[in-house]
Amino acid sequence: MGQINQDYIEDYIRGLLPKRNDLLNRLEIEAAEEHVPIIHPEVAQYLEVMVRSHDYKKILEIGTAIGYSAIRFASIHHAMQVDSVELSEEMIEKAEKNIKEAGLENQIKIHPGDASQVIKTLEGPYDMIFLDGAKGHYVHMLEDCLRLLSPKGMIISDNVLFRGMVASNTVLKRRKITIVKRMRRFLEEISADPRIHTTIIPLGDGVAVSIWNRDHMENTGGEGHE
Ligand SMILES: C[S@@+](CC[C@H](N)C(=O)[O-])C[C@H]1O[C@@H](n2cnc3c(N)ncnc32)[C@H](O)[C@@H]1O
Repeated sequence: MGQINQDYIEDYIRGLLPKRNDLLNRLEIEAAEEHVPIIHPEVAQYLEVMVRSHDYKKILEIGTAIGYSAIRFASIHHAMQVDSVELSEEMIEKAEKNIKEAGLENQIKIHPGDASQVIKTLEGPYDMIFLDGAKGHYVHMLEDCLRLLSPKGMIISDNVLFRGMVASNTVLKRRKITIVKRMRRFLEEISADPRIHTTIIPLGDGVAVSIWNRDHMENTGGEGHE
């Protein structure tokens, strides 16, 4: 249970999703068995619709894990290029194996290391930036994300409601207080930042979508954007 939506709603939506191929089905099962958090399938479908509707061709992902979401993105079309950043060597090894099995080595590049450092070395521009790494670090990466985001691009931040804990202290677990406080700060910042428009969607574990505020860019001569 995601704690954002009731089980029967989640199950119903999932029942309508397009079938995944054998590799993706296997990775979903492995991730569940090994407690590796991967993108919720309904969130992956939402991102696929965004990619297709905007004809996006370059994605930056923070948090590769076993490569599931990177494989889904790269499978959308042959011109898609995915840069994905991952800290864990164990995850990188698994992701490389899975990406090879998917035959997508030419479309997905894994950048090893701590995302808050690696992101500073990347050049972009990226059409979509998918924040799915350490949940407490989103707030520290916002400026780099904006530096790397293309004019028609979108920042997608996953798990922003964090099992509901971000929205209410009544479900907050003590050991998650720091992450939750940082996530709240991140949501407050992206909601109030005049350079972007943001919407928060209670899909999966909570998804925030941010795009450039074109009026602000025009009035300030593109301040905040290269
Ligand atoms: C939610 S999982 C990513 C799931 C993946 N995007 C998917 O849907 O298939 C988060 C990943 O971020 C990685 N991670 C955590 N802290 C990180 C950091 N500071 N820099 C880079 N990766 C990090 C974790 O090792 C983990 O594999």
